[in-house]
Amino acid sequence: MDGRIFLSAPEVTGDELRYVAAAIEENWIGPLGPHVEAFEREVAEATGVSRAVAVSSGTAAIHLALEVLGVGAGDTVVASTFTFIGSVAPLRLVGARPWFVDSESRSWNMDPELLAAAIEEATRRGRRPRAAIVVDIVGQCADWDPIVEICGEAEIPIIEDAAEALGATYRGRPAGSFGTVGIVSFNGNKILTTSTGGALLSDDDGLLDEAFYLATQARDPAPHYEHSRTGFNYRMSSLLAAFGRAQLADLPRRVERRRAIFERYRRELGDLPGISFMPEADFGRANRWLTAILVDREAFGMGPLELMAHLAARDIEARPLWKPMHLQPVFRDEPVTGGRVAEDLFARGLALPSGSGLTTDEQTRVIAAVREAWRR
Ligand SMILES: Cc1ncc(COP(=O)(O)O)c(C=O)c1O
Repeated sequence: MDGRIFLSAPEVTGDELRYVAAAIEENWIGPLGPHVEAFEREVAEATGVSRAVAVSSGTAAIHLALEVLGVGAGDTVVASTFTFIGSVAPLRLVGARPWFVDSESRSWNMDPELLAAAIEEATRRGRRPRAAIVVDIVGQCADWDPIVEICGEAEIPIIEDAAEALGATYRGRPAGSFGTVGIVSFNGNKILTTSTGGALLSDDDGLLDEAFYLATQARDPAPHYEHSRTGFNYRMSSLLAAFGRAQLADLPRRVERRRAIFERYRRELGDLPGISFMPEADFGRANRWLTAILVDREAFGMGPLELMAHLAARDIEARPLWKPMHLQPVFRDEPVTGGRVAEDLFARGLALPSGSGLTTDEQTRVIAAVREAWRR
């Protein structure tokens, strides 16, 4: 065996040093200036929105999105249950409560019919949702046309959590551009990274002006430090923005590389009984951030956790898919509409090593290890 194979290791393009060195030489080190601005312009361009505000993480971006949409104490927000905690943890920061909605099996994203049912039931119970947090999970867009229509009719603004979906599209349009506000993450495990970071996306300048204001300690226009509200210190460092520019220029190749990794897994493991692959709905093109498989214990001979242990013993990192938020102890008392689909994805799901820097030999090793598990 030669070296550990990680689930989604960051990949450096080689250009990062040049960008970061330029920022240092020009003494643009803080959280403002031309490197952050250029990164924001390029992120907006890549996601098809008019403007982006770069911040310290995707979770911070969700928090700001809730703030600028006016979501506050006691409000209800409908949210995808099949997601990572960062999508919904900020609800607690503003004192709002989630109402979770299950996935559909075509894309594993929020089921539009259940969304409509959740809005109706919440409204009937005197909890008309104030906003929706809709996730593009594991690099695939949600079914945006019906979701935008349903939320539009109910006058509910959408926060699109495209943290995992940078570079994916829905009917040709980029992930991140479907909500009233969108967010992306540049965390170390994402398709591209600034080590840690995120951005808010929108066509609404007013909302982004307010997000910027809140992200920079809510500083009012005055020669001294004047504050009529309290904000946060959520801005992205120039050094990280410079790093991110080199990464972003490589996004199209990264999408193709991750898709090729997915396709090879499917070609070389697709014949194994009990193994199936994350579907790609006909409405979009996924970035295949992670190759997600479902493992049927009976047909395959072991379940996903045993397969994960089998791979770990061979120095290969795999991971279960997201545990639905309605099953998380921290959200024990929150309502959910549906839930079976997300529960099944959690029970059977496993993500295989998928980083764009994964070598052919490393992938050969992963494939051989999965086949060996089956033979046993
Ligand atoms: C779906 C989803 N939402 C939100 C986040 C939060 O992003 P960050 O880690 O940049 O705070 C992540 C990932 O980390 C994510 O996968």
